[in-house]
Amino acid sequence: MKSIVIAIDGPAASGKGTLARRLAGAFNLPYLDTGLLYRAVARRVLDHGADPADAEAATEQARTLNRVDLERDDLRTKEVDLAASAVASIAPVRAALLDFQRDFAQVSGAVLDGRDIGTIVFPKADVKLFITASLDVRAERRFAERKAQGVATTLEAVRADLAARDEADRTRAAAPLRPARDAHRLDTSTLDADHAFAAAAALVNQALSKG
Ligand code: CDP
Ligand code: CDP
Repeated sequence: MKSIVIAIDGPAASGKGTLARRLAGAFNLPYLDTGLLYRAVARRVLDHGADPADAEAATEQARTLNRVDLERDDLRTKEVDLAASAVASIAPVRAALLDFQRDFAQVSGAVLDGRDIGTIVFPKADVKLFITASLDVRAERRFAERKAQGVATTLEAVRADLAARDEADRTRAAAPLRPARDAHRLDTSTLDADHAFAAAAALVNQALSKG
């Protein structure tokens, strides 16, 4: 199979990761969850007792990030959600993470998901998808995940956290969350993961057949 880059962007809990993993499996491509990079930087800043909004501290952690930092199992907490969004608004943090993301796809192509893959990281990606779902649906999904993890929270609290993070991601100056001009938009509000995959796979096949 030709090595291609598939860029998947969208707000939190829209189903990007689930879709990206399935496309990577089906098209035999490596997969990178770029949110993990920002989460790992945030985790390290918090571990150092620094403020995630402190540009100097966050940039230092981004520049010295290691692959093993991405394998930690404490990157998906509520505290890290918000801290990740804070460090992600700092332009030098984003710049420090660019090469890693681009190098990842160098040899065999890749599927990457995040907020700025189709706009900034891979503006010439072979296929760009922008995944959305209503805030209520996304809150239900993330709440169900948190409940399954045994986290004590409420649907209202999860919805408020998602809304705050989306707003911050959309309105920041550095690489704001927005669809690339040539992105295919996919609203998964009423699509389960199988149907979302089928729709996305059809778009990828179309792009492959055009060469
Ligand atoms: O899994 P979820 O969609 O909740 O979040 P994530 O993809 O792990 O991303 C966590 C945070 O990292 C986001 O709220 C963004 O602020 C930031 N991020 C980003 O700015 N750019 C990316 N390419 C990926 C994540
Ligand atoms: O990566 P992102 O934060 O955008 O979302 P995710 O972690 O892939 O998906 C959040 C939750 O929604 C997961 O529990 C999925 O099983 C579920 N879901 C989905 O991913 N896609 C759908 N079309 C419907 C539900």
